[in-house]
Amino acid sequence: MFLPWLKIGGSGLTAVVLVLTASPKDIKLFTPANVVAITLASYAGLELRKLQKHYEDKEREEDMLAAMKDTQATEQLQYLSSASERKRLNVDADKETERQLKLLQQTAPLFSEVLAVTGQNGAVSRMALGMIQNGESLGNVLLATSEAEMQLEQAKLQAQIHHRQLELQTQQVLKSANTQEVTVTNSIKGVSDVAPQSPKIEGLTKAAKVVGLQTQCLRVDKAPSYERLIFSVKTEDFNSLSKLKAATKLSLGISEKSDLPFYIYAPEQIAVEIPLLPEDRTYYDFPQRQWQSGERLIVLGQSLDGEVVINLASEDTPQLLCVGTTGSGKSNLFRAIAYCLLMQGARVDICGGKVSDYEDFAERFPSISLNDMGKTFEYVGEYFLECDRRNKMTKAELAQESAWLLEIDEYKGTVPLDDNLRKTYDQQLCEVARRGRGLKIHVAIGLQRGSKRSKDDPQALPPDLRDNLPCRIAFRCVDATSGRMILMRRGEAVTSLQGRGDGIVQSGLLDRRFQAYRFETIP
Ligand SMILES: Nc1ncnc2c1ncn2[C@@H]1O[C@H](COP(=O)(O)OP(=O)(O)OP(=O)(O)O)[C@@H](O)[C@H]1O
Ligand SMILES: [Mg+2]
Repeated sequence: MFLPWLKIGGSGLTAVVLVLTASPKDIKLFTPANVVAITLASYAGLELRKLQKHYEDKEREEDMLAAMKDTQATEQLQYLSSASERKRLNVDADKETERQLKLLQQTAPLFSEVLAVTGQNGAVSRMALGMIQNGESLGNVLLATSEAEMQLEQAKLQAQIHHRQLELQTQQVLKSANTQEVTVTNSIKGVSDVAPQSPKIEGLTKAAKVVGLQTQCLRVDKAPSYERLIFSVKTEDFNSLSKLKAATKLSLGISEKSDLPFYIYAPEQIAVEIPLLPEDRTYYDFPQRQWQSGERLIVLGQSLDGEVVINLASEDTPQLLCVGTTGSGKSNLFRAIAYCLLMQGARVDICGGKVSDYEDFAERFPSISLNDMGKTFEYVGEYFLECDRRNKMTKAELAQESAWLLEIDEYKGTVPLDDNLRKTYDQQLCEVARRGRGLKIHVAIGLQRGSKRSKDDPQALPPDLRDNLPCRIAFRCVDATSGRMILMRRGEAVTSLQGRGDGIVQSGLLDRRFQAYRFETIP
């Protein structure tokens, strides 16, 4: 850079010296000296211009370099932060997978049990893994596996029943040697040959095609309030079953809010319960029957497998909890329950609900009392003291005592709002339910909705009382939450029930859909 400056300085300086030294008197030298000075000054000016351009270029280059450095730094920064984010996500994903696999391992015994029975090697494990890979939450995976467990129990029971039926058939064939053909009938079971034109079967077959499964309807069983379609399905992918269920609901026009019971019936066979239209349903009046004094049977109604009867003397069904929306059939059932017990010599106390429903009972049965809802507290107290009294008795003395049944329909309305009274009420009722089972003291509680006891809902059912009411009866509910609170398995099925006595009873191993007997006039 020094040379250009030297050139400019030299020519500029020479031009100045020439201008200053040239005397106008010496005309010969004055003119050429000025011309040379002007040329040198112009040269210096040009060089100066060049230098200015050079410096401008240099400055621009530096700016560009600085800008490039900035961008590179930002890019590097971005790269680094996204790399660390990726690393964090990978660590999180690893942790999640580890957690899921751990949980999967815990449920593995269940899978292998299902596999042992269905004989479909690895299918349930694949279902669970498939669900997890599809981003299904573990809660849903576990729900699906518990459903599989329930279905397994059903499949086992069905297999036993089929086995028994086959045995009976063989015995009958052997008995009647070469004479008549054998028919195995059930009290109400309407087994029809498959009608290929049935819109329900068509709907189901279409749904299966959409999902890519091959099915064939094997049988249709007609229950009082629904038809059970048994059809064959061959699949290794259990995910496709939930898709098939969703597609079937669509093709049959079943609303989102209602469940469609869909379960494994036997290996490679699925059952689906499709509701009947109200006009196609069958109702049964409470039948006449022989009663044995001292027994504690409750005749509930009819199911696909015949009449459903529970026994309060059994360990599984000493105390009852019944839920159902308005009009679903609770009060009708409670009348039937009271009748059953009264016919077997028990004392029955009606609290809650509409007392006028039992006016006809009062004339016929002296051991019934009909009480205003407000009196429930007193009755619970009396039952509590009776438990104390019976607790001190010998077995022989207890055998002499009659059974007592406290019916609390519309339970919510009977819970005191005062904190102290409510505490006593809760404690005593829970104790009666817990201790009563061995003392011939029973309670039946009816609710419209199953909700959790909380500050906002102080009249809801407390959990310890619910735990002491092991026999659960669910009628139609508008939402699945009630069903899940009351039933022990497949609670969402309550939304598939049709009301007016269409119910599910669960207790221990018992799990049966039934149509309650209509109880209008006392038989
Ligand atoms: N098992 C049944 N068979 C035929 N009809 C029934 C049966 N149960 C109930 N119904 C019909 O449904 C109506 C309502 O039944 P119920 O009074 O028992 O319902 P609920 O559940 O007690 O309703 P709420 O909560 O409003 O008291 C009855 O009047 C009756 O006509
Ligand atoms: Mg009622």
